[in-house]
Amino acid sequence: MNRGQIRFQVRERLRKSGIPRAALEADILCSEVFGCSREDLLAHPERQVEPEEENRISSLAEARIARVPVAYLKGRASFWGLDLLVGPGCLIPRPETEVLVETALELFRKGRFLDWGTGSGCVALALLSEREEATALMMEKSPLALLWAWRNLNRFPFRHRALLWHGNSIRRIPSSWLPLDLIVGNPPYIPSSEIPLLMEDVRLYEPILALDGGPDGLQDVLTILRDAENALVSGGWLLLEIAGSEQAETLRATSNQAFELACVRKDFAGKERIAVWRRR
Ligand SMILES: C[S@@+](CC[C@H](N)C(=O)[O-])C[C@H]1O[C@@H](n2cnc3c(N)ncnc32)[C@H](O)[C@@H]1O
Repeated sequence: MNRGQIRFQVRERLRKSGIPRAALEADILCSEVFGCSREDLLAHPERQVEPEEENRISSLAEARIARVPVAYLKGRASFWGLDLLVGPGCLIPRPETEVLVETALELFRKGRFLDWGTGSGCVALALLSEREEATALMMEKSPLALLWAWRNLNRFPFRHRALLWHGNSIRRIPSSWLPLDLIVGNPPYIPSSEIPLLMEDVRLYEPILALDGGPDGLQDVLTILRDAENALVSGGWLLLEIAGSEQAETLRATSNQAFELACVRKDFAGKERIAVWRRR
């Protein structure tokens, strides 16, 4: 069998099982196994395929049909131009989280910051890559996710400017890290009742601890808001990703003596996404 034939076969298998972008995903899986670019795959359909390659592509297609996310199959995801390792146990970085990074970079030039729920480490790594005089405390509750953050941190030259911390509360941050200049976080914010409605790719494979934000999705957001009071310097910033306008409205209506809600930034799709508070 040649590359063109196998590409067509995989595309048809994915299409028949209802995968929305079957042609694109078939090419991604084939390129992954052949170790070539998509352009190279299209340019040389005549190249012969080794039996091991055929088996490998077939098992990747089978896993995709079972709705395993493509990023987990590739073992990689791109975020803020960084190539990150991902797999079961850590959330796949999303494009809207880049707005969190963008906003943080506008407000923060140097100092200490906390990345609450670091997951793959994407947010902290993006900020460290842009701010040479910053140090990061990368906090994560899930040991599995922490392992992905560790794998990723170790691939970058600025690893000495970060500490991975297996923790679940700002209240227990080591005192040597306080006060912080910035807290960023993409906490779980999906209301529990909406979890069963998520796409299978997400619902079946991405960690529930990264998704479920309790009854109104704001459980962790409000805990962070409460605990950040004693961890941030006066004038310091707290930036959290949220689900959209409903949560933004709730937060606008939540009075807080320690923080002023400066703004809620929209993502590329126009959804209210990044809540920005300033410590008074
Ligand atoms: C939505 S994911 C975000 C991951 C990553 N920061 C990103 O943007 O892709 C939320 C992360 O918070 C972690 N988490 C949940 N509760 C936590 C807690 N109380 N303390 C620390 N991390 C927590 C989850 O394990 C998950 O990795």
